[in-house]
Amino acid sequence: MEQIISEGNAKIYGELKQVVTRDMVVFYNPVMRVNRDATILVLSAIDNVDMKIADPLAGTGVRSLRMLNELDEKKVKKIFVNDKKYKFEEYFKKNIELNKFEDNKKEKLVVENFDANIFLLKNKIFDYIDIDPFGTPNTFLDAATQTIKNKGILAVTATDTSALCGSYPTACKRKYYATPLRNELMHEFGLRILVRKVQLIGAQHDKALTPIFSYAKDHYMKIFFICFTGKTKVDEILAQHIEFIVEDKKYGPIWSGLLWDEILVGKMLKLLENEDFAKNIHNDTKKLVAIINNECKIKTPFFFDMHELSRKKKTGNTPNFEKMIERLKSKGFLASRTHFSVTGIKTNADEKTFEQCFEEEMK
Ligand SMILES: C[S@@+](CC[C@H](N)C(=O)[O-])C[C@H]1O[C@@H](n2cnc3c(N)ncnc32)[C@H](O)[C@@H]1O
Repeated sequence: MEQIISEGNAKIYGELKQVVTRDMVVFYNPVMRVNRDATILVLSAIDNVDMKIADPLAGTGVRSLRMLNELDEKKVKKIFVNDKKYKFEEYFKKNIELNKFEDNKKEKLVVENFDANIFLLKNKIFDYIDIDPFGTPNTFLDAATQTIKNKGILAVTATDTSALCGSYPTACKRKYYATPLRNELMHEFGLRILVRKVQLIGAQHDKALTPIFSYAKDHYMKIFFICFTGKTKVDEILAQHIEFIVEDKKYGPIWSGLLWDEILVGKMLKLLENEDFAKNIHNDTKKLVAIINNECKIKTPFFFDMHELSRKKKTGNTPNFEKMIERLKSKGFLASRTHFSVTGIKTNADEKTFEQCFEEEMK
C-alpha cells in the first residue's frame, strides 16, 4: 500500500514491504539507506561545487531529493533524475510537490524517463553519477565512464555479490573477467574485482578511476571513484591490477591499490560531529564511517581472520580483539577492526608477527 515515507530530510510516496522485489510499483529499499547516506557524506566532504548531478536509476528518486535538501546549496547546480519505469515523471513530480521545495530549489531538478544509457549520453557530461542498478552495474558502465567529467565522482553499486564473492565463479569470470575467492576474504576480494572492472571500462575512454570511498555491506558493494582524464594516469591504474596464485590456481585479477582517500574519510567523520548534519544520517552509516576511518590508515590490502587462525591453531577460542589490536600497536604496527568482517583484524604486521601476537595473547 502506498504511503508517505521519510528518509533523511526528504519525503516520498512509496511502499514499505517485508520483502523488497524488483516488480514493486516504485522501488524503495530501506536497507539501502546507508548507500544513500554515503552519497550525502561523500558529496558533502569533497571540495566540488556547482555540480551537475545524474541519478539515472532513480527508483523513487529519494536520493536526488535528499541531495537537493541535504547538500550545501552551492554544491548543486542541477540534478537530473531518471528512471525508465512507466510514468516515472508523473510519479516523481508528486514527490517534488510533497517536499514543498522553494522555487529556486525546484528549478534545479530535471526529470526524465529514458533508458539510463540514453539519458546519460544525451545529457553528455556530469560531475557526479550514481549507478544504483538491480544486480550488476555492467550495463551502465560504458555510458557512465564516458559521461563523467574530469575530477568528477562516479559512484557504482553492485548487488550481484554471489558472483563477486565466489558462489558463482563462472558468472564472475564472465561478468568481471576475474576469478573470485570463496573464503573469509571474499568480500574485500570481490570489491577489488569490481573496482578493477569499472577501471577497465574507464580505461577505454582514457578515464583513470581511483576509489576514494568503498565498502561492502549487507547484499551489496559500493565504490565512489574520482575520475582523472589522461593516458598516463590510466596506465598507472592498470599497473595496480594483480593476480594471486594459491596452490597453483590463479585468483583475480584485482585492484591492489587503496580503497579509500584517508583525508576524505576524516572529513566525513568530522561532518558527523555536526548535529544538524548528522541528524539525517543513520547510526549504521555513522558506525561504518568510524570503522573505515581506522582501517583506511592501514594501506596493506586484506586482513587476518581471528576465527580462521583459531581453527588453524586448534585453540578453541580467540584472544580478545581489542587486546590483540593493542598488542600489535605496542609492537609498533598499525592495527584496526575492519568493516569487511567482524572476525577480522587489519594490520601492516606480517603473518608471522600476527601469529606470534595471537599466541602471546592466548597464554
Ligand atoms: C535498485 S533500483 C534504484 C534505487 C534507487 N537508486 C534508490 O536509491 O532508491 C533500480 C532502478 O533502476 C530502474 N531501471 C532498471 N533498468 C533501467 C534502465 N535500463 N534504465 C533506466 N532505469 C532502469 C528500475 O526501474 C529501478 O527503479
